[in-house]
Amino acid sequence: METANVLLAVENLKTQFFTYGGVVEALDEVSFGIIEGEVFGLVGESGCGKSVTASSILGLVQKPGKVISGRVLLDGDDLLQKTEKEMNAIRGSRISIIFQDPTSSLNPLFKIGYQVAEPYIYHQGKAKKAASNEAVSILKQTGLPDPRDKAKNYPHELSGGMRQRAMIAMALTCEPDLLIADEPTTNLDVTIERQILNLVKDLQEEFGTSVLWITHDLGVIAQICDRVAVMYAGSIVEQADVRTVFRSPKHPYTQKLLRAIPAADSAGENLEEIPGSVPRLINPPSGCRFHPRCDHATSVCSEKKPIELEVSPGHTVACHLF
Ligand SMILES: Nc1ncnc2c1ncn2[C@@H]1O[C@H](COP(=O)(O)OP(=O)(O)OP(=O)(O)O)[C@@H](O)[C@H]1O
Ligand SMILES: [Mg+2]
Repeated sequence: METANVLLAVENLKTQFFTYGGVVEALDEVSFGIIEGEVFGLVGESGCGKSVTASSILGLVQKPGKVISGRVLLDGDDLLQKTEKEMNAIRGSRISIIFQDPTSSLNPLFKIGYQVAEPYIYHQGKAKKAASNEAVSILKQTGLPDPRDKAKNYPHELSGGMRQRAMIAMALTCEPDLLIADEPTTNLDVTIERQILNLVKDLQEEFGTSVLWITHDLGVIAQICDRVAVMYAGSIVEQADVRTVFRSPKHPYTQKLLRAIPAADSAGENLEEIPGSVPRLINPPSGCRFHPRCDHATSVCSEKKPIELEVSPGHTVACHLF
């Protein structure tokens, strides 16, 4: 992955939470790279470490959590070495995030238009009038109906789908190189979800933004991602372009995930339960963390953590079967 067009390279990221109950080994040497202009998916069951990956990249891991080791290279520059002040600047300009819950990003006390205009004023030094016009224009691009009117509303006056659009507008005002989307469509109904997915895809193509799309829903991955990493209990088990992962999944966990999708129309459906449960990450299983749920496990699987192996160009699997 050491090619020139890798925008973000996450290398051997290890993040832990030091709780009274013990050390939560949330990320165990996570590595992946996001190429300029692509939509990269991160998929896995609840608790596997998707959001911790996002917060580790953004320097937002809160106590008792800590990034223990690894590198997060943005254009070759390690974000883990930055000061809080430098990271604040990067979060306002080069990387933005949209969350599942827009209420966590929108301030209930300010009008939508002002909140979208704010980065233009403070990061780009635009005059208020110009900034407010820019805000209306970007709100319009997100497909918000009557953007000039809606800009005068407070967040609670908008529907969930509209708030999500406003949050996307906020995330795009700084024209980030990387947009991280942490399950932003989970609470929305399927029609709105599809609109938001199309919107992000359109904006991504227009602005050339790279996107890290986080979800537990393989249907969403199929709709919008170019490449995908499958995560299990704090580790990435398989990575490839989306078509390859769907057509010839190699890791037993990926195979189970795909089998858990309802057959007829997978798009938009959530994953069904697959047998067994995700292990707690205090004292996680030894060796391959998936071995207790794996039908193919042998003795080596509980003894040694498998290393990632390239099974075909761009397709890597971390499993002792390979
Ligand atoms: N503040 C915290 N203190 C202790 N453990 C934490 C904390 N935050 C996250 N964890 C643990 O880290 C692991 C990964 O959590 P994370 O939130 O990244 O999962 P996720 O894949 O985003 O799940 P979901 O799909 O439910 O959002 C979990 O085992 C979780 O319990
Ligand atoms: Mg999460």
